[in-house]
Amino acid sequence: MMFSSASRTLVLALLTLGASASRGGTPTVSYNVSAAETYLPNKDYSNEQLALLWYQVGPVATHPVVTATVEPTPEPSWAGPGEFHPFVASNYPEELAVAKLPPGFNWGMTSSAYQLEGAAKDEGRGPSIWDLLSHRNPNQVADNSTGDVLAQHYYLYKQDFQRLAKYGSPYYSTSISWPRIFPFGKGPINEAGIKHYDDVIAELVKHGIKPALSLFHWDTPLALFNEYGGWTNPKIVDDYLNYAKFVIARYDKHVPVWFTFNEPQYCNWQYSYYPAGILYPSYGIGPGINARFICGHYTLLAHAKLAKWYHNEFKGKGRISFKNSGNYYQPVTNSTGDLEAAKRATDFSIGWFGGPWTDGDYPQSLKDTLGEILPTLSKAEKALIKGSCDFYALDGYTAFYVSELPGGANACARNRSDPNYPECGSSSQVAPNGFSIGPAADAGASWLKSTPTGIRKFLSAITKEIFPAVKDIVVSEFGFAEPFESEYASVPDAIWDLRRTDYIQGFLDNILLAITEDHVNVTGAYIWSIMDNFEWGSGIKTRFGMQYVSYDTLTRTPKASWFQARNWFKRHGGEFLPGAE
Ligand SMILES: *[C@@H]1O[C@H](CO)[C@@H](O)[C@H](O)[C@H]1NC(C)=O
Ligand SMILES: *[C@@H]1O[C@H](CO)[C@@H](O)[C@H](O)[C@H]1NC(C)=O
Ligand SMILES: *[C@@H]1O[C@H](CO)[C@@H](O)[C@H](O)[C@H]1NC(C)=O
Ligand SMILES: *[C@@H]1O[C@H](CO)[C@@H](O)[C@H](O)[C@H]1NC(C)=O
Ligand SMILES: *[C@@H]1O[C@H](CO)[C@@H](O)[C@H](O)[C@H]1NC(C)=O
Repeated sequence: MMFSSASRTLVLALLTLGASASRGGTPTVSYNVSAAETYLPNKDYSNEQLALLWYQVGPVATHPVVTATVEPTPEPSWAGPGEFHPFVASNYPEELAVAKLPPGFNWGMTSSAYQLEGAAKDEGRGPSIWDLLSHRNPNQVADNSTGDVLAQHYYLYKQDFQRLAKYGSPYYSTSISWPRIFPFGKGPINEAGIKHYDDVIAELVKHGIKPALSLFHWDTPLALFNEYGGWTNPKIVDDYLNYAKFVIARYDKHVPVWFTFNEPQYCNWQYSYYPAGILYPSYGIGPGINARFICGHYTLLAHAKLAKWYHNEFKGKGRISFKNSGNYYQPVTNSTGDLEAAKRATDFSIGWFGGPWTDGDYPQSLKDTLGEILPTLSKAEKALIKGSCDFYALDGYTAFYVSELPGGANACARNRSDPNYPECGSSSQVAPNGFSIGPAADAGASWLKSTPTGIRKFLSAITKEIFPAVKDIVVSEFGFAEPFESEYASVPDAIWDLRRTDYIQGFLDNILLAITEDHVNVTGAYIWSIMDNFEWGSGIKTRFGMQYVSYDTLTRTPKASWFQARNWFKRHGGEFLPGAE
């Protein structure tokens, strides 16, 4: 194995966990250092091993100016859209005009570590597989961008949080970077990474912004991929648990919402391929359908183990769940075949991880179709999974029409060579009337159309039909990539993001209608994203931000949608931070 010769030169210093909250944070915030230390298996640290991992990634870009944490400057005053174009109107019924959100409704902006932090190689961080993929895999990222620098949120978070405080949203949902804390995924911790997140949390607490923290947003430490193939190996479960318990034990006091995983459905595409010659996995499972479902299996088990530990042993004070990637699948007609195809599509997306709300097992259609490809869950594992979420979290961006395959699902489900295997249905975003199902997003996000009524239907379907045991649902992400936004030569043109503004208005209207008209207990909504960021395979040209990022100056400028969302929450009784403008 390539990186096994453990050098013992402790160049990066033995790591004493700092008991103070921060470099310049508030002294009122303290962390449970002794509880966190329980989860440190050993403290060896090798600078050389870290250098080898980065050698595998290749040269990493740095920002020419911003290379340390920047103190915030006073916020400029903002102006929303001007007098010659009003806000986007609501298209929905009159009763909506007076409808109010329930008290305590959670709302705010979102991001994730690799997609926003930048400073990829700084302060002792180890690489994740996304550093490797974005650098080394040709055609991985449409515009050949990487997460090396981006908006440098890693150093500019104080300004970013000051802006959120002025905006007034009570929550902020983001993720912690596993390889910043454990550069090798396990073993030695990186003190600078810990101090950074100490500061980040202290800064949020200072402003009264509540963090909703994901422990994993796809950035598997590269060292664990090298050693055993990441999520295709059961060893990942314990390594993840050590990391996650370390973080929770340290920060639980300040974090009311934990997400064990962001969208485990990512196993679908992340594990369908491994770029040959780039990753060096010493495991027996090649890329493809086996790896997909094994990845999902260990993810589900890791989630369940952590969530049960959180409540039963650790006695955490917050709520814990995972975020589901789910789109609304509407049968194109009410024929038995189309209804069945829509059900299969739902089974293979959110049903796959639906165990916590059913009997803890995989859907029958997955078992029948996949046979031995789908790992089996023991009785004890099913019991562990059942009840392992405190609420349902849906990242629900869009909708599809689904129809039966010519020849039916059954022939396909028995034929692993069928190109539609294993979902065995056909989906489309073209409506029977010939229109797209909704206005299209940027061509870099060709899967995304604006379908506001879809979220209302989906919220009802999840809580009444798909998982009736769900008593409480949060829309943990929704958002839109404005078409051609990167093509504008001027920022003032780019920030008039009319389609995103319409999408945000329509989604919020329909989330509220789900509450007031359909009596779905929606308890939160988080908008993707706080600012433009790295959209994985679509790169940085496909922008999802509510603020525009100028990548040369690192300036963030609020877009029209930023104001539309805030006006919406004001009109409908959303709670704001006391310091809101
Ligand atoms: C820190 O955690 C330990 C172990 O979980 C616990 O016994 C102790 O009371 C905690 N200390 C504080 C100050 O919360
Ligand atoms: C990205 O890099 C690949 C490989 O070097 C190259 O073929 C491709 O044209 C580049 N794409 C863009 C958009 O620059
Ligand atoms: C299918 O049935 C549902 C419920 O009865 C109805 O609302 C919907 O309009 C029907 N769809 C089609 C395409 O006929
Ligand atoms: C399975 O699917 C492949 C690809 O569509 C097709 O060529 C083959 O005939 C199918 N086999 C059976 C038994 O239907
Ligand atoms: C909605 O969920 C919250 C959080 O679990 C709970 O406190 C509340 O009672 C629920 N409301 C209804 C109407 O079920």
